[in-house]
Amino acid sequence: MPRIASLIFVCLIASMVAAALVAPPQRNTDGSPAAEATLESNALADESSADAPTHPKPPTFAVTVRRPDGPPRIELAGSDPQGRSGTVACSTCHSVRPPDLQNRTAATLNEFHQGMQFNHGTIACYSCHNPDDADSLRLADGTRVDYSDVMTLCSQCHGPQATSFAHGAHGGMNGFWDLSRGPQTKNNCIDCHDPHAPSFPKMIVGFKPKDRFNAPHPEPEPH
Ligand code: HEC
Ligand code: HEC
Ligand code: HEC
Ligand code: HEC
Repeated sequence: MPRIASLIFVCLIASMVAAALVAPPQRNTDGSPAAEATLESNALADESSADAPTHPKPPTFAVTVRRPDGPPRIELAGSDPQGRSGTVACSTCHSVRPPDLQNRTAATLNEFHQGMQFNHGTIACYSCHNPDDADSLRLADGTRVDYSDVMTLCSQCHGPQATSFAHGAHGGMNGFWDLSRGPQTKNNCIDCHDPHAPSFPKMIVGFKPKDRFNAPHPEPEPH
């Protein structure tokens, strides 16, 4: 008899464990039972599916990235006999001049654009400029890029920095970090990096970092 009783007891425990495994109690992150939330949202959905937000999203303000207005232009060196000065578009000369792929660095420029500072890895002028349209840039696959979208070009070769820029770890920002509180403004890559000589000048810090290892210690503790 006691044997049967213990067998029944074991079966009872086993079925309880099985039930718990089959239907584990579900909870939402806020601790409220999930079943209730589902019921609630179902009820709301039945009544009016249009306005049933259980957690209304806060408004999100815009992120604005500064961009250049358009293609650069060449400033005329002097003024004409009428005293007029001004600028010319790149295409003014380059639409009638076949691209010279031998001009890869500033060193071979002697007819025009002399004395340009150029120091950007081993890439050539036409890694960025568009040989088919001087008033635009170009990606490696031939896609035309407007000067105002220059960051698309930079991002093609500098993926890690572009990713860091996108989530705010590179390039800085002004305004609100929390976009539910206000808008944000960011610099363009070329606000900080000259596309022809992009290396950022090394800076000297005004004060030394606190050296907590080599600083004189008042009383070395015995070990
Ligand atoms: C007044 C005419 C003129 C204008 C305006 C001009 N260029 Fe040029 N450009 C030249 C000449 C000439 C060369 C060739 C220089 C050499 O080989 O010594 C050249 C060379 C270049 C090259 C090197 C590749 C090649 O085909 O020789 C690039 C890139 C370039 N120009 C870009 C530009 C851009 C961008 C602009 C506008 C901001 C511009 N140019 C405006 C005359 C011009
Ligand atoms: C990394 C991409 C890149 C390369 C490589 C590059 N450029 Fe540029 N270049 C640009 C961009 C972007 C601008 C526009 C800058 C701006 O709007 O301030 C520009 C502007 C210019 C301009 C007009 C403004 C200025 O600085 O005089 C000339 C001329 C020019 N490039 C010529 C050249 C020549 C010649 C070469 C090769 C020796 C070259 N570029 C290589 C991206 C590049
Ligand atoms: C076609 C590929 C290409 C494009 C487009 C390009 N870069 Fe670069 N960039 C390079 C290479 C290659 C180097 C050299 C990397 C090295 O030396 O380790 C470099 C180096 C740099 C550096 C580091 C310089 C240093 O001394 O540490 C900066 C900053 C930079 N690029 C910014 C830009 C910006 C801004 C643009 C867009 C205007 C741009 N790059 C477009 C290929 C590119
Ligand atoms: C607010 C200014 C600023 C902006 C905007 C900015 N950078 Fe930089 N960038 C820097 C500084 C500062 C460094 C560090 C230079 C150093 O360590 O010597 C740097 C370094 C780099 C380097 C060298 C490698 C590295 O990470 O140290 C690359 C490549 C680069 N930036 C690409 C970009 C590109 C591409 C963009 C646009 C998506 C961009 N940067 C936007 C300021 C800026």
